[in-house]
Amino acid sequence: MKYGILADIHSNLEAFQAVLAFLKKNRVEVMVIAGDVLGYGASPLECLQLLAGEQSVACVRGNHEEALLSGEFSRMRPEAVTSLIWTRQQLNRFWIDYLASFPFIICGANFALCHGAADRPLSGYLTSRDRAKRAFAARLHRICFCGHTHFPCVYRQKEDSPEVELIPADFNGCLKVKLEPGWSYLINVGSVGQPRDGLPVACAGVYDTGQEVFFLERIEYRVEVARERILTAGLPAFLGERLCRGV
Ligand SMILES: [Fe+2]
Repeated sequence: MKYGILADIHSNLEAFQAVLAFLKKNRVEVMVIAGDVLGYGASPLECLQLLAGEQSVACVRGNHEEALLSGEFSRMRPEAVTSLIWTRQQLNRFWIDYLASFPFIICGANFALCHGAADRPLSGYLTSRDRAKRAFAARLHRICFCGHTHFPCVYRQKEDSPEVELIPADFNGCLKVKLEPGWSYLINVGSVGQPRDGLPVACAGVYDTGQEVFFLERIEYRVEVARERILTAGLPAFLGERLCRGV
């Protein structure tokens, strides 16, 4: 089975379309999304329509969906609050109910999926090996995919060992990892619509269970169009500019 694994689309239609085309070219059979479909970008409705139109797709809730649903913005930055209030105004009851159907965690036969980290599925930032150790302690599956930091990378831990190894992305922001027996993996698939590793190109992950290989490619998209949409919507200009710099 070939899974497309994505995270943090953040209402960026151009990036999402480019990644979907890449996944289809790679004959991905099922797509899973580690939360934050919404927030920051100017195409929330279009992204949700695209998502809902896919045949085999599952999505967990991100902290942006949670904030939008709960109205609890106290832990968010001002530009995130501005974009979420605007996003809420774009969505009718149908789409709010659709978002509310996203679970916090999905745990299947081949892997688990959450937005942050297994011990804090909505808000845990996997930013260090120490932080990853706590997530490994709470793991739900040998292989867990997540997003939230907008930085692609892989942590792995050998059975019966407390040590955690970091496998960083290469200079092009890409990853290719053979998933070995006897090891557990936390795989951060980066961000489709707002990468923050200095590369203004979307992240698209593919997990091939037959080959036991995960790879992550970077996909060029029309960044300028996404930026223009943000400006036209009257959202903070910074949200458009950061897309062009990948920060
Ligand atoms: Fe995010």
